[in-house]
Amino acid sequence: MTKYQIEGGHRLEGTVTISGAKNAAVAIIPAALLVKGVCKIENVPDISDVQILLQILEQMGASVRHLSSNTVEIDCSQVDYVEPNPDLVRRIRASYYLIGALLGRFGRAKVAMPGGCNFAPRPIDQHVKGFEALGADVEENSEYVIAQAQGDALQAGRVNLDVVSVGATINIIIAAVLAPGQTIIENAAKEPHIVDLANFLNTMGARISGAGTDVIKIKGVKSLRGGFYSIIPDQIEAGTYMAAVAAVGGNVLVKNVIPKHMDCISAKLREMGAKVTEYDDSIRVEKVRRLRRATVKTLPYPGFPTDMQGQIGVCMTLAEGTSRITESIYETRFFAYCQEFRAMGAIMEVNGKTAAITGVESLHGATVQAHDLRAGAALVIAGLAAQGETFVENIHYIERGYENLIGKLTALGAQIRRVED
Ligand code: EPZ
Repeated sequence: MTKYQIEGGHRLEGTVTISGAKNAAVAIIPAALLVKGVCKIENVPDISDVQILLQILEQMGASVRHLSSNTVEIDCSQVDYVEPNPDLVRRIRASYYLIGALLGRFGRAKVAMPGGCNFAPRPIDQHVKGFEALGADVEENSEYVIAQAQGDALQAGRVNLDVVSVGATINIIIAAVLAPGQTIIENAAKEPHIVDLANFLNTMGARISGAGTDVIKIKGVKSLRGGFYSIIPDQIEAGTYMAAVAAVGGNVLVKNVIPKHMDCISAKLREMGAKVTEYDDSIRVEKVRRLRRATVKTLPYPGFPTDMQGQIGVCMTLAEGTSRITESIYETRFFAYCQEFRAMGAIMEVNGKTAAITGVESLHGATVQAHDLRAGAALVIAGLAAQGETFVENIHYIERGYENLIGKLTALGAQIRRVED
């Protein structure tokens, strides 16, 4: 078994460059299925979720050329296949975007139930509601989602989402881009990667407006052409390094970020006593004192992201006083790391949607398991901050979403390496 071995207690110093946004890339790559032409995409994170999606497209007949580790050319002109490889599809969550893309292009799709991080029940009823509003019949069983447009092609429709869902918003945008008429999504999610997906599709000739607000309008176009696009920096990767500096100690310039996307994370770290300085496309984080307690409630963007819950949680384990996190997106998410934190000496009590974390002077090393991507990242930070040696197991979760984590942390002075049993 491959795991991370971490020797804690080393300050983080230097510069780290943030990669392209995972959750934008995993939407943009399936969306390329709508384009008949070459999409040259830059700032693609080199992570396993992306590699799997590219493999899925290739097996469906797309031409995929890696121009460098972060630039890829995708040409889906020749794809005529509506059943992506179920074994690959089951390995990632974002494979549900293949349903929207295939429905949009071919009017039908048969896609295995998506896999990915299982920190909570993750229904797709809002995706289905959207496809149905566009005129599709959708059948779900334990293995597959089978969707078929009535009359062989989708039509524009109006969808009011019952919950603010990133995935459903993205999937409906993708499905609607080629559907004649005007589609309207109300109560849409506003995350930066939704705006990025819309910008990608508009660059290729789509007519999407309102992305980044809660009402998105899509005027169906006849076809999309190829083009060039560069993916935005990853908000959560940047937040993870920022939280790491606040928890572990040190002074790091986090480069290639959009500071606006980081607002609520920067504000929370400042409130906890870290020094956070914003520049045009970078943020410096410095730990200048022991952190103070804080209260966090996770919310859809622009609120505090659920994907930063565990990382801010590590900061709280070492802060003065008792901090509280209220999780409003995925109630069971605390269980992905609560036991592991405790094994490292943290004091954490979970009561329904709320966790109370009472700061201790120091954490100690332990052998812990990543149960999902972000919980895994939190454990890495905890290991870096702890006294002694930590082993983090199940690292395939972490490598789904963090490009070159070991290389980036090592360059900051962390003692972390990948080891085999
Ligand atoms: C996206 O998941 C992200 N994944 C997640 O990041 C992130 O945690 C989540 O958004 C919330 O920000 C990708 O972008 C690939 P949702 P998604 O639909 O789209 C409920 C990571 O670590 N819901 O916004 O699946 C749902 O249960 C991953 O990078 C329904 O009820 O999340 C949740 O309570 C993990 N029905 C809430 O909505 C639906 O049909 C928000 O989920 C869809 C969602």
